[in-house]
Amino acid sequence: MNWSNQLCLLTGASGGIGQAIARVLAESGVRMILQGRDEQSLQRLADSLPGIHHVLVGDIGRSAGRAALIGELKRFPAISMLINNAGISPFGELQHVSAEELEQTIQTNLLAPMLLTRALLPQLQKRSEAYIVNVGSAFGSIGFACQSAYCASKFGLRGFSEALYRELAGSAVKVFYLAPRATQTAINSDEVVAMNQALGNQVDSPQKVAQALKAQLLASQPRVFIGFPEKLFVRLNGAFPSLVDNALIKKLPIIKKFAAQHAKEILV
Ligand SMILES: NC(=O)c1ccc[n+]([C@@H]2O[C@H](COP(=O)([O-])OP(=O)(O)OC[C@H]3O[C@@H](n4cnc5c(N)ncnc54)[C@H](OP(=O)(O)O)[C@@H]3O)[C@@H](O)[C@H]2O)c1
Repeated sequence: MNWSNQLCLLTGASGGIGQAIARVLAESGVRMILQGRDEQSLQRLADSLPGIHHVLVGDIGRSAGRAALIGELKRFPAISMLINNAGISPFGELQHVSAEELEQTIQTNLLAPMLLTRALLPQLQKRSEAYIVNVGSAFGSIGFACQSAYCASKFGLRGFSEALYRELAGSAVKVFYLAPRATQTAINSDEVVAMNQALGNQVDSPQKVAQALKAQLLASQPRVFIGFPEKLFVRLNGAFPSLVDNALIKKLPIIKKFAAQHAKEILV
């Protein structure tokens, strides 16, 4: 991989994992187009990275924001890499998640990556090498109570990535799916952090995720699941879901306790 030949559109660049990915790639020589809604934080990030980078502000959770972003991408015909990383995660029992949150989750985590990929594909296909990375989650393979909307979006993203990987086999465009486990970023509310502690879940740094993404690209691995025992559970859940049903249902009282605290926090 010739890193300094790459121009990368990264969504969710202002977030914990996004900033770490931007830094790892920029330090390797990649020129970045940093996308998110918070112009100031994106600009601060761009200024702090080695090299010259661009900032694109827009809300990809809404169709008008996506259309505006896709329009602006015409300014960057040299894009060779798309990293669909933006994401949101409404924590709670389904009846406590609003219809608006459900819609936003699917639009941001699933529909936006699909539409951005579709819009960029013709120009990616003109290049000698091009890369699409979809940042999924362990919850894209394991259904977890009180994360049903998030799981639905990430299961969808995994299916999209796998189908497209197979569809584009033999072409210049390589498709990758990276599934982090719990990672220390603002996507996790205080209650989710406390729940992870109570359940004994391991939590990674965003830098570890960013290094895993770089290693995945270098090794050209279509699917990477970060962390043990999560990657084992992913396989187990695929082959013997009832075993994982039993293990996770035992944890339900703890999960529901933190989900109820989260719901109370939101209502205050
Ligand atoms: N942290 C974890 O535990 C974990 C575990 C597995 C997978 N992941 C995945 O990793 C990815 C990055 O998440 P993170 O942990 O870095 O979370 P984060 O710190 O909350 O960052 C989320 C990013 O998504 C952007 N975003 C959200 N909604 C958007 C919208 N409507 N339009 C444009 N940008 C939007 C945010 O931008 P704004 O600045 O505009 O809000 C922010 O840059 C997500 O796909 C997440 O599902 C995270």
